Amino acid sequence: MKARQPLTYFDNSATSFPKPPQVAEAVTRYLTEVGGSYGRSANKRCHEVAQVVEQCRDTLASVLGINDAGHLCFTANATQAANTVIRGMDFSAGRVLISPMEHNALARPLEALRLAGKIQIDFLPAFPDGLIDVANICVPDDTRLVVVNHQSNVNGVTQPLATIRQAIGSTPLLVDASQSLGKVPFSAQVWGLDYVIFTGHKGLLGPTGTGGFWARDPQTVEPLLLGGTGSNSEHLAMPEFLPDRFEAGTPNVAGIFGLEAALSYPPEALHHRDDFQELLTAIQAISDFRLYAAEDFNQQGSLFSLTHKSLTSAELSWRLDDGFGIETRAGLHCAPLAHRHLGTAPDGTCRFSLSPYHAKADLDYLLNALIKVARTR
Ligand SMILES: Cc1ncc(COP(=O)(O)O)c(C=O)c1O
Repeated sequence: MKARQPLTYFDNSATSFPKPPQVAEAVTRYLTEVGGSYGRSANKRCHEVAQVVEQCRDTLASVLGINDAGHLCFTANATQAANTVIRGMDFSAGRVLISPMEHNALARPLEALRLAGKIQIDFLPAFPDGLIDVANICVPDDTRLVVVNHQSNVNGVTQPLATIRQAIGSTPLLVDASQSLGKVPFSAQVWGLDYVIFTGHKGLLGPTGTGGFWARDPQTVEPLLLGGTGSNSEHLAMPEFLPDRFEAGTPNVAGIFGLEAALSYPPEALHHRDDFQELLTAIQAISDFRLYAAEDFNQQGSLFSLTHKSLTSAELSWRLDDGFGIETRAGLHCAPLAHRHLGTAPDGTCRFSLSPYHAKADLDYLLNALIKVARTR
């Protein structure tokens, strides 16, 4: 029997690979057999498309832990979702509290509002690993929104959302679930979240170009994109009802077919969480590396970062690729705020992100490669 080749792709936080085989099959089925638009015509193709799109919306609703799937709107990715929510809200010149681990998908639209004099931005208190220091949260009266990245895309630290909700009272809470969704249980309604943004191509294992947001009260957000919805076409104003209010333009139907398949056929993880913990412990023992991960393994998502004593993050990433075929991501990972907090700016880190398709043997392969790289200067 042919020996299994190690799975050397460790860049799943950028985009997951491989995908469940049913994803490509579903995309191909749409492109070669089903065809048709969404919500535009009354033909059979359009009807079948609507069934799959609405099935995907319903399944996403259960992944998010919400019972109002109609409040879940598709976007092209988490970035478009973040821009829709942030740029569509009325902040009345108030304050926004953000975690120090925010991705630029949120930090940049917020910074643009700050520069326009529309908000003031303050950081939530946090421990050195980025975990929010809930006991010391203070929410000034003029706070309009709290923004939290559920799982850092730099060190994997995962925030305790239910506890944060308790600490901030009734202040609206926007959560970026781009890295966590599909990887850890999620309960938007139980945790009292107000807005969740997500992307389909990372932990959910769907195709790029898919994502969305959920809003508990969508009336608090004005649509960012205006245009055709196939509904109320006689009016030049956007429909008031959901999801049409936020879904102008033909959606990524091929991508949503793929995402629906990804949600229907989640793979069994080929490694245990204990294997991951062992890997982190072993890496920590290699003196040339510095590990960036959650202080408490219970708060650790399936990704982490390293810096090397003498190699830059780009050199480390290149050596792993050149010598061992190991694919990682070096630099700032679009999260300069997180690197500032962790003390890893401006060079950033070399990031390793796992997938359910990694077997223990793949983690061993990675560890051996790191040991060899540490020895050769
Ligand atoms: C934490 C986090 N938020 C948002 C995003 C943006 O996702 P997308 O590129 O799919 O819009 C990413 C992607 O890297 C991310 O890691």
